[in-house]
Amino acid sequence: MKNFNYSIPTEIFFGEGQIKVLPEQIKKYGTKVLLVYGGGSIKKNGVYSKVVELLNSNDIKFWELSGVDPNPRITSVRKGIQLCRENNIDFILPVGGGSSIDCSKVIAAGYYYEGEPWDIVLDPSKIRNALPIGAILTLAATGSEMNAGAVITNMDTNEKLGTGNPSMKPKFSILDPTYTFTVPKNQTAAGTVDIMSHVFENYFSSTKGAYVQNRLSESILKTCIQYGKLAMEEPENYEARANLMWASSLALNGLLGYGKESRWSVHPMEHELSAYYDITHGVGLGILTPYWMEYVMNETTIDSFVEYGVNVWGINPDKDKLQIAKEAIEKTKEFFISLDIPMHLEEVGIGEEKLETMAKAATRHGSLGLFRPLDSQDVLNIFKAAL
Ligand code: NZQ
Ligand code: ZN
Repeated sequence: MKNFNYSIPTEIFFGEGQIKVLPEQIKKYGTKVLLVYGGGSIKKNGVYSKVVELLNSNDIKFWELSGVDPNPRITSVRKGIQLCRENNIDFILPVGGGSSIDCSKVIAAGYYYEGEPWDIVLDPSKIRNALPIGAILTLAATGSEMNAGAVITNMDTNEKLGTGNPSMKPKFSILDPTYTFTVPKNQTAAGTVDIMSHVFENYFSSTKGAYVQNRLSESILKTCIQYGKLAMEEPENYEARANLMWASSLALNGLLGYGKESRWSVHPMEHELSAYYDITHGVGLGILTPYWMEYVMNETTIDSFVEYGVNVWGINPDKDKLQIAKEAIEKTKEFFISLDIPMHLEEVGIGEEKLETMAKAATRHGSLGLFRPLDSQDVLNIFKAAL
């Protein structure tokens, strides 16, 4: 296990009805709020009217930035910064999934940055400070509600890049599982895969001896397997939604990654698919993951797949190692198929044309991951296998 500094300062208010804490929490930080949300799901399911009622009845002034796209755009960030500056906003309140939260984070940091906001996406070291953020989560997936990262897309340059700074961590997040009852099947599936992928990125690691992190990771994976399909079949099953929601936060709040090397593989590959084809993040991850697993499984890495197969999928440990590893990958694929995740890039409109360009872009800062480092040719091979 490597050295680490633990810091997960976001206060979590978890459970049905926790929205009641919103006014007192906001007032700790500000009185002029920018409410940030997406394409209107929060208006359909009643979350918007609840939030507005609480703000109005507590004399909290607010302005709105709506229409944040899935794969949030730098254009929305620019609009948000302008609104904050024009109205002396002192608090940002995203209500939605990772896209609204990520957009808010970069607005919050961009507010203090003099230059063009895309600069702080390209180079996070330019971030010095951020306006305080509190999130109301409506989709279990990204973990953005409890971490310092944000992913923003620039459609002009076909770039989708991650940025982050500790100042961008939400001060608090409200996690009411009933707010996710209206998440459609496909987004529930994509969210479940995203949570699992966040775990995989840290679980399949070159760091040895991080026993506690690996056992915690397996429990999150088992939670997704236990409840992902159930939440699709029974969207109002509180137990399923609650477990997925907490799994989303725990998978990417730092807990599982502390003490391990943290260079990721599948996410940088997927971000290129989303940058060029604007596909749903979790779907891209679901397509790539089994092919990535097959590609990186070798004599050096096989023990991690055996551990995964035995501890997560309950495969008999007495079987031959190679058989266990292959079975574990097959079970992963079968699980994604059971969630109706497509298994080929062509099914989401991605052909051969841009595979090479995307493989080069994914490795623009060097090879991916340390578990089994991937150069641009490796990434291209995985893309081709996934076609
Ligand atoms: O836009 P609205 O109308 O709200 O609809 C959204 C959107 O269409 C809908 N939705 C959300 N909550 C709902 C709902 N529909 C009905 N009922 C509800 N309760 O779901 C769709 C997807 O929403 P979005 O916020 O885009 O999804 P998600 O949370 O999966 O976020 C994806 C973005 O986060 C980035 C991804 O790359 C992608 O851009 N990521 C952010 C990370 C982070 N900050 O740590 C890490 C992740 O790996 C990921 O890269
Ligand atoms: Zn993700």
